[in-house]
Amino acid sequence: MKVAVVGAGGIGGYFGGRLAAAGHDVRFVARGRHLEALRRDGLTVEGPEGPEGAGAEASGGFSVPASALRATDDPAGIGPVDYVLLGVKTWQLPSALPLLKPLVEDGTAVLTTQNGVEAPAEVAEAVGRDAVLPGSAKIITYLSGPGRIRHVGGLGSLTFGEWDNRASDRGETLRRALDEAGVTAVVPQDIWAELWAKFLFVAPFGGLGSVTDAPIGALRSRPGTRRLLADAMSEIQRVARAAGTVLPDDIVTSTLDFVDRQPAEGTSSLQRDIAAGLPSELEAWTGAVVRLGGSHGVATPVNGFLYQVLGLREARAAEQRAAERRTEGSAA
Ligand SMILES: NC(=O)c1ccc[n+]([C@@H]2O[C@H](COP(=O)([O-])OP(=O)(O)OC[C@H]3O[C@@H](n4cnc5c(N)ncnc54)[C@H](OP(=O)(O)O)[C@@H]3O)[C@@H](O)[C@H]2O)c1
Repeated sequence: MKVAVVGAGGIGGYFGGRLAAAGHDVRFVARGRHLEALRRDGLTVEGPEGPEGAGAEASGGFSVPASALRATDDPAGIGPVDYVLLGVKTWQLPSALPLLKPLVEDGTAVLTTQNGVEAPAEVAEAVGRDAVLPGSAKIITYLSGPGRIRHVGGLGSLTFGEWDNRASDRGETLRRALDEAGVTAVVPQDIWAELWAKFLFVAPFGGLGSVTDAPIGALRSRPGTRRLLADAMSEIQRVARAAGTVLPDDIVTSTLDFVDRQPAEGTSSLQRDIAAGLPSELEAWTGAVVRLGGSHGVATPVNGFLYQVLGLREARAAEQRAAERRTEGSAA
């Protein structure tokens, strides 16, 4: 089984690393200092069982030595593969999609892992719908340094399916390979319901957390913010239905139960990126709720408010980054 990982960060590095550690032919497409470190030192994935810096084995993680790891910035040198694991952030898709061209031939499956519900269609525009396996990752990981990934928590599971939910040999082969590599891999009855159900959790949690700068424990325990979470979720349930995916009637209650089971200090990547003034997935999360609601005639006032406030904050952060770049440029 030949696999290319495009975007070897928290998600691509973790799941691609699992497959590489299990002996599959995995090629990592990376860049910059991360690429240099992967080539020089291999990949270290620290697990959730120790402090950061404890090392792979001491923390319950794993590693792939440089001698067994193949990393490049040139996908043309890899050629067609059986599977592409696409692990870039949503806002990086436009610049990453051209990298897929030399990797995809008839039968190649491109597994999307992005949060939100729009990445599969964006990828399908580049490689065709038949090539796309819409997917969703349940895990919490991040790049802790060049060549290093930290697995903080979460099951470590990948859920994916064919676009039309039909059973396929390539889906089953991937499920089995992941399973044997220590990853919980699930092919559900309806992959779109899975994507929307996760979206219904992450977008309200991310949007409200970003606006308030509060962790999940605070959001869920004040009646007012708990109500806002529930209302934002209900809006997504209605948008999903209008877009053709009927979620269970009790999805908001069961998602709030899930919220209640999370560690109180948890925050979303959206919140952390916005707080740090970095590019974020706002457009693919809260922005997508508002956009899809608008195109299907579904009102989304709570998400709309979150989107406008955060959109302004993000625009100002982008201006600030541009000004800093100009200052650096004129100083050089
Ligand atoms: N991490 C999680 O716990 C988690 C859980 C569930 C879902 N997700 C979703 O998974 C997606 C990926 O998230 P992530 O946390 O894995 O992001 P990440 O750690 O930032 O990884 C993205 C990687 O892609 C690389 N990349 C982007 N464009 C590239 C290009 N043109 N060429 C080579 N490398 C490129 C980035 O390199 P640079 O650093 O050089 O840009 C980075 O190494 C997101 O949509 C996220 O919402 C993440």
